[in-house]
Amino acid sequence: MALGQGSPVGLDIGTSAVRAAQVSGGRGRASLLAFAQVPLPAGAVRDGEIQDQGAVSQAIAQVWKRIKVRAKTAVIGIANQRVVVRQIDLPFQEEKEFRSTLRFQVADHIPMSVEAAELDFQIVDEYVTEGGERMMRVLLVAAATDMVESFVGAAMAAGVQPAGIDLAAFAAARAVSSSARGDSGEPGAEAVVDVGAGVTNILVHDNGEPRFVRILLIGGDHVTEALADGLDLSAEEAEAVKLDLGRGVGTPEAQRILSERVGELVEEVRSSLEYYLSQEDSQPLTSLVLTGGGSLTPGLVNGLQVDMRLEAQASAALAGMNVSKSGLTDEQIAQVEPVAAVAVGLAMGASGR
Ligand SMILES: Nc1ncnc2c1ncn2[C@@H]1O[C@H](COP(=O)(O)OP(=O)(O)OP(=O)(O)O)[C@@H](O)[C@H]1O
Ligand SMILES: [Mg+2]
Repeated sequence: MALGQGSPVGLDIGTSAVRAAQVSGGRGRASLLAFAQVPLPAGAVRDGEIQDQGAVSQAIAQVWKRIKVRAKTAVIGIANQRVVVRQIDLPFQEEKEFRSTLRFQVADHIPMSVEAAELDFQIVDEYVTEGGERMMRVLLVAAATDMVESFVGAAMAAGVQPAGIDLAAFAAARAVSSSARGDSGEPGAEAVVDVGAGVTNILVHDNGEPRFVRILLIGGDHVTEALADGLDLSAEEAEAVKLDLGRGVGTPEAQRILSERVGELVEEVRSSLEYYLSQEDSQPLTSLVLTGGGSLTPGLVNGLQVDMRLEAQASAALAGMNVSKSGLTDEQIAQVEPVAAVAVGLAMGASGR
């Protein structure tokens, strides 16, 4: 679908920054038309939820000026504890029929009131039980309405019309994994892990079909905060110490704090993946792709590889894309690549709509 300059922008409202991307073209030959980011003040977004709507909306307005697109619509990503993803098995129904009675059918399966939730679903499988009953497996997404409205409100206050809401986890997977976009038919499941500042999105998919999603309230700031506390530094100073540690520079005490906290991050991700693997119908993991600024935390990729006995790859969210129209230099592309996946994936989903 050629939507040109009018296709919706992917809008990622993260803990550390607001990011916007616009893409064109279908799978395999997508172009990045625009990308920009604007930092957010500390505390404006916490645990993936908007705390300061004014600050977020100001950042959205600024990022819009920077991307210089005609589009005034955006698909907004969400990732917090007020959205849940559950896999449920139900007697087979036509999709239309299921949609019309969704609320009643899923009320018992979600840990929030269906009255105050936005619901969406994907039918990921169909099968017949041993007893001969035709069943379907549904991936259900339920998001608290007031939380969704806070994102919609921040965008609208910046003059941006929401064209849709999507899970940041889905978007990250779309952007970083060629097989999540349905390009290849390799067997086995792939885990895509987006480690942010305060939120980590975990998604396991099997040839593009999402099987498992977990949103953890932990990220790279878990290390920064410990460095700030342990070494009595400001957040900015602790961030600088963390970056130095990545270059192999730092005191033994800083190193000790880093390894301890990285160990905790690895443990959180590992236990989510083990939970997925413990499910009866899980596929073995054959690939692990990491993205997000927090994935650059020194020792994290290696720690996960060792723990999961899997080769972990750092994502190249922009690698397969034509970036010549984005106006970004090669250096800028390399710099934004780790943090671009969610915005790019949201935009990809929008241009495929
Ligand atoms: N070069 C680097 N080395 C180590 N850590 C880094 C590096 N660059 C960024 N980070 C860390 O990445 C984190 C920010 O990641 P990212 O920008 O993906 O988060 P976010 O999208 O703003 O937040 P979230 O997704 O958690 O809401 C911070 O903790 C930051 O310290
Ligand atoms: Mg993020």
